[in-house]
Amino acid sequence: MGSYYLQWRSSATNRRTPQTADEPNSLGPQQTQLMHHSPTPKPILQFIAFGLIIFLSFLQFLLPATHFRHPSDPFRNWLPLHSNTSKLRAPSNGNSSGRQDENGIVHIVSWMDCLDLRLLAVLANSTFSASRYPDLVHFHLFIPKGDEDKVSFFKLKVLFPHSNLEIHGQEEVKQVIRTSFSGANHSIINFEEIAPFVIPSVHTFLSKFIYLSPNVIVQGRVEQLIGVHLSTYAIAVAEDCSKRLDTYVNWDVLDAIQRSASKPWVSATPYAKNSCMPDLSVLLIDSRKSKNDFLEAFLWWSKVLNSSERSRGRNHATALALYNRYLKLSSSWLVKDSILAVVNDSLIVRYDGPHTVCSEFGDGAALESDRGNFWLEYLPPMSDRILGS
Ligand SMILES: *[C@@H]1O[C@H](CO)[C@@H](O)[C@H](O)[C@H]1NC(C)=O
Ligand SMILES: *[C@@H]1O[C@H](CO)[C@@H](O)[C@H](O)[C@H]1NC(C)=O
Ligand SMILES: *[C@@H]1O[C@H](CO)[C@@H](O)[C@H](O)[C@H]1NC(C)=O
Ligand SMILES: *[C@@H]1O[C@H](CO)[C@@H](O)[C@H](O)[C@H]1NC(C)=O
Ligand SMILES: *[C@@H]1O[C@H](CO)[C@@H](O)[C@H](O)[C@H]1NC(C)=O
Ligand SMILES: *[C@@H]1O[C@H](CO)[C@@H](O)[C@H](O)[C@H]1NC(C)=O
Repeated sequence: MGSYYLQWRSSATNRRTPQTADEPNSLGPQQTQLMHHSPTPKPILQFIAFGLIIFLSFLQFLLPATHFRHPSDPFRNWLPLHSNTSKLRAPSNGNSSGRQDENGIVHIVSWMDCLDLRLLAVLANSTFSASRYPDLVHFHLFIPKGDEDKVSFFKLKVLFPHSNLEIHGQEEVKQVIRTSFSGANHSIINFEEIAPFVIPSVHTFLSKFIYLSPNVIVQGRVEQLIGVHLSTYAIAVAEDCSKRLDTYVNWDVLDAIQRSASKPWVSATPYAKNSCMPDLSVLLIDSRKSKNDFLEAFLWWSKVLNSSERSRGRNHATALALYNRYLKLSSSWLVKDSILAVVNDSLIVRYDGPHTVCSEFGDGAALESDRGNFWLEYLPPMSDRILGS
C-alpha cells in the first residue's frame, strides 16, 4: 500500500507541474509541493478506498465466516458461528434419537408455566458459569409456546451463542397430565410441580436428567449431581427440614390410610410425623431405574386427601407420592435465600430478581419486584436489554 501511494504521489506532482509553471516562484520548492497537494486529497482517498475494497474482498476468501443469520429469525440477528456447527441446533422437532447421556452430556430440564426470559437467562448463565464443562451442559427449556416461540429462542441464543439450548413445547406433557386428571378439578393441577416426573414418559430421550426450577441461581457444578449414585432409586432430591409433613397432612387420616390401603406408593410402615418435605427445585431423575408411577400415585393421594386450594404451592400429595422413594441429596443442594450470609457455601440459591407471576389462566400477570441483587451478577443490564423484558 505504501509503495502504491508513493507512486501515485509522484505522478500527481508531475501532472500539475504545467499549471504551476507560470506562477511566480516566490516560495521554496518544498513549500510549493505542499501547497499543490493540500487542496486535492480526494484522489488519494479514492485510491486507498479502492485498495481497501480489493483487500477486503480477498479477506472474505481467506478467512472463515464467523457469524451467520438464521433464516427464520424475525430480528435477523447475527449469531457467532461455532466451529462445531452441530451444536447450533434449531428448536427441537421432537425427534432426538441418539442423544443419550452416555457420552457425558448433562441434560438439564426446566419448566416454566408463564414465560419470563430473565429467569431462564439467569438460570442458564449461572449454570454454565459454575460448570467445569459448560460444553457438555444441554438445556431443555419447556415454555408455554414451545418451539413456535422463535423470538425467545433467538434472544437466548444471542446471549449464549455457544451453548446447547433447546426449547420444547408443553402441550404433549400437559395433555398426558390432563388426561389422567379427567374428572378431577383441573384448577388443582400445578403443572410446574408434576411435569418433571411426566417428561421422561413423553420425551423418551430424556431418560436421565437434572430438573432445575426456573426460580434458582446455580453456584455448584451440575455435573456433580448427574454423577450421584442413585442405587435403585429413580429420583434424588434434597430435603427441606424447615417444613415437616405433619403440618401439611391431617395425621389421623394419613394413619388410617396407611393401615388400610395397599398400594405400591403407600408406606408399609407408619409415616414419620417429622419427615422433612422434599424441595422440588432440584431433582435428579433416572426414569430407567424403576416403573414410573408417580402420576398415578400423585393422583391417588390428591383424591384421598382432598387436595384443595389450601395446599396449592406445596403439594402434600407430591411429598406422599415420593415418600421413601427417593435418594436424599446433600443439603448443600437445598435452595437457600440469597439474602442470607450462607450464599457462599450454598450450591444453589433462590432467584431474587423481578419476575412475572402467573395469573389463574396461566398467562403472565403481575410483575413481582426484586428482593435482592444477586441475580444482576448473571444478567448485566446489557443482557437484560437484549431480552427486552
Ligand atoms: C462436535 O460436537 C459433537 C457433540 O456435540 C461431538 O460429538 C463432535 O465430536 C464435535 N466435533 C468437533 C470437531 O469438535
Ligand atoms: C426419529 O428419526 C429416526 C431416524 O433418524 C427415525 O427412525 C425415528 O422413527 C424418528 N422418530 C420419531 C419419533 O420421529
Ligand atoms: C374447581 O375448584 C375451584 C376452586 O377450588 C372452583 O372455583 C371451581 O368452581 C371448581 N370447578 C369445578 C368444575 O368443580
Ligand atoms: C373430602 O371432601 C368431601 C366433600 O368435600 C368430604 O365429604 C370428605 O370427608 C373429605 N375427605 C377427607 C379425607 O377430608
Ligand atoms: C462470602 O464471600 C465474600 C467474598 O466472596 C466474603 O467477603 C464474605 O465474607 C463471605 N461470607 C461468608 C459468610 O463466608
Ligand atoms: C453471565 O454471567 C457472567 C458473570 O458470571 C457475566 O460476566 C456475563 O456477562 C453473563 N453473560 C450474559 C450473556 O449475560
